[in-house]
Amino acid sequence: MIRLKSVAKDYKTRKNNVRAVDDVNLDIADGEIFGVVGYSGAGKSTLIRMFNGLELPTEGTVEVDDLFISQIRGSKLRKARQQIGMIFQHFNLLWSRTVYDNIAFPLEIAGVRGEKRRFRVNELIRLVGLEGKEDAYPSELSGGQKQRVGIARALANNPKVLLCDEATSALDPQTTDEVLELLLDINRRLNLTIIVITHEMHVIRKICNRVAVMEAGRVVELGDVIEVFQHPKESVTKRFVRQVTESDETEELIHMLLENYSEGKLVKLLFVGGKATQPIISQVAQDNKVLLNILHGNLTQTQNGAYGTLYIQIQGEESQVDATITRLRELEIETEVIEG
Ligand SMILES: Nc1ncnc2c1ncn2[C@@H]1O[C@H](COP(=O)(O)OP(=O)(O)O)[C@@H](O)[C@H]1O
Ligand SMILES: [Mg+2]
Repeated sequence: MIRLKSVAKDYKTRKNNVRAVDDVNLDIADGEIFGVVGYSGAGKSTLIRMFNGLELPTEGTVEVDDLFISQIRGSKLRKARQQIGMIFQHFNLLWSRTVYDNIAFPLEIAGVRGEKRRFRVNELIRLVGLEGKEDAYPSELSGGQKQRVGIARALANNPKVLLCDEATSALDPQTTDEVLELLLDINRRLNLTIIVITHEMHVIRKICNRVAVMEAGRVVELGDVIEVFQHPKESVTKRFVRQVTESDETEELIHMLLENYSEGKLVKLLFVGGKATQPIISQVAQDNKVLLNILHGNLTQTQNGAYGTLYIQIQGEESQVDATITRLRELEIETEVIEG
């Protein structure tokens, strides 16, 4: 369990005082994958660095498993840090050491020796899928493989928490998905709490249970991922949600649909959560004796169910078409009639 109470962080520069993090309150449960999303400069890195005492808050407290990280120093803090692994955008590997020796490094520091160390390194190599790469140097690895080394090294001392600061931001989309799958797998297998910092909503959508949106040092919105996708409140959140759900082509698409499907009504449906889309749609069409034509869909999976939009054309007698729309709304599917 992680708890931040009224946390603020100021940086004093020669010219002025920057409040990088401002009055943040958070509770993160064991085993949760918690996301923090925000644009560059929002304060995400500063926030996450207070979780393991790399930065100290100017105000407030940071508690990880009943230990006040923000209050302890020296050897106590070093010991506490072994419970909190971290991975970075640019991997932070030791370039003159092999994959094996990079992963062995935190074990050396923790005083794990001999056969025990060998056993653990090999176990970690299997866990992150780097078999056969033990003797390679970081410069010989792909970005995804480098981050796998980073993850193995971060997990070496069996931490309870893994902090990820833009861990997939230097990777291409496919490699990003592979690394995210690995994090999900590790979360489930080890019941590891994972905190993910990112400027990409795709990352949040794919692996997080809850998300906090940061802007100018503050958490401006917080909730279950599916809930935030469904009802984003702040304009910054709406912009992030659009990253995933709507492409630039949406407006163009609607225009094209209106031109080409002038009969009946053009309707946009918003699906959230577990409702199975296909059976509902065909049932409603049958009940109301209308023709439903699926024109365009964009359904995406989150950790708590499906989320997405579907554009359909409803054809039939006007009263039946209207009854269909009423029925869809009764089923709590957000239904928007698109007018030309
Ligand atoms: N060491 C520092 N000294 C002075 N200002 C800093 C320092 N680190 C971060 N900042 C400032 O704090 C704000 C938040 O930065 P950061 O936490 O890195 O944001 P993010 O990770 O969301 O991009 C920015 O305005 C940044 O310039
Ligand atoms: Mg950052």
